[in-house]
Amino acid sequence: MPEKLEGNLATRKGSFQYSYLILTTYNVLLCFAPAHSITLTSTFTLNFKVMSIHINAKPGDIAKQVLMAGDPLRAKYIAENFLEKAVLVSQTRNAFFYTGLYNGKQVSVGTSGMGCPSIGIYSFELYTEFNVESIIRIGTCGAYTTDLKLFDLLNVELAASESTYAKFAWGNLDEAITHQGAIFDTINERASQLNIPVKQVAIHSSDIFYRNTSDIPAIAVKYNCVAVEMEAFALFANAKYLNKKAATILTVSDVIPTHEKITADQRERALLPMIQLGLETITQ
Ligand code: HPA
Repeated sequence: MPEKLEGNLATRKGSFQYSYLILTTYNVLLCFAPAHSITLTSTFTLNFKVMSIHINAKPGDIAKQVLMAGDPLRAKYIAENFLEKAVLVSQTRNAFFYTGLYNGKQVSVGTSGMGCPSIGIYSFELYTEFNVESIIRIGTCGAYTTDLKLFDLLNVELAASESTYAKFAWGNLDEAITHQGAIFDTINERASQLNIPVKQVAIHSSDIFYRNTSDIPAIAVKYNCVAVEMEAFALFANAKYLNKKAATILTVSDVIPTHEKITADQRERALLPMIQLGLETITQ
């Protein structure tokens, strides 16, 4: 773990360790006390477990491999329809996280929320508090070009952004950050085995959904970004800083120049290949 982060966490851990010492002493003393006091102590000990701020799961409740959707209800849908033995392990702020089995392998499916600040928080806590190794974000995007069609599947090679997230979080001045680790390649391999067409592209992670012009933003032109979404940049920035793995798969849900959109009715079915590819890859 990077030195600066270790420092921050060490301060937090220090206070926990101090409290833990008091708690341990308290427990030892209570070993000689009547049974009901010991029950009281174990409840107290359970409540005291170190938890992350935004994910109210216990350590070990979250798998090392996580699939993240922006929408909590999509996470719920995936858990209920694709996982076996799915258990809801956190619902703080209704950001659902489930852990279950896919092809017999443990996987968690959770929520990132919208935008770099939100995925920045959830992915950071997953990587640092729950020892998560790999995160695949699955989401939708708007195509900047009519070369892309509705329902096209994109494997994000690079995310360019005007966001200051990487700069102010990690001192990373890059305007464009690549996927991290080998999951990107695994997505491509798995997609070709499953006969799911997928394009490897650069995308724009924007902080803005509504704007007063239909011009393609300068940063998207600079990095040849064919589509826009709002989260991959912060996910990649966190993974890069923490030396973890991250990838993003997107389904084109709208074509910006023509105003075509996937309808609400089409949305559930449209996202199935992306969900399948994400799960097949993350559990590999
Ligand atoms: N902008 C940002 N994110 C998106 C869009 C968009 O047009 N479409 C789907 N996700």
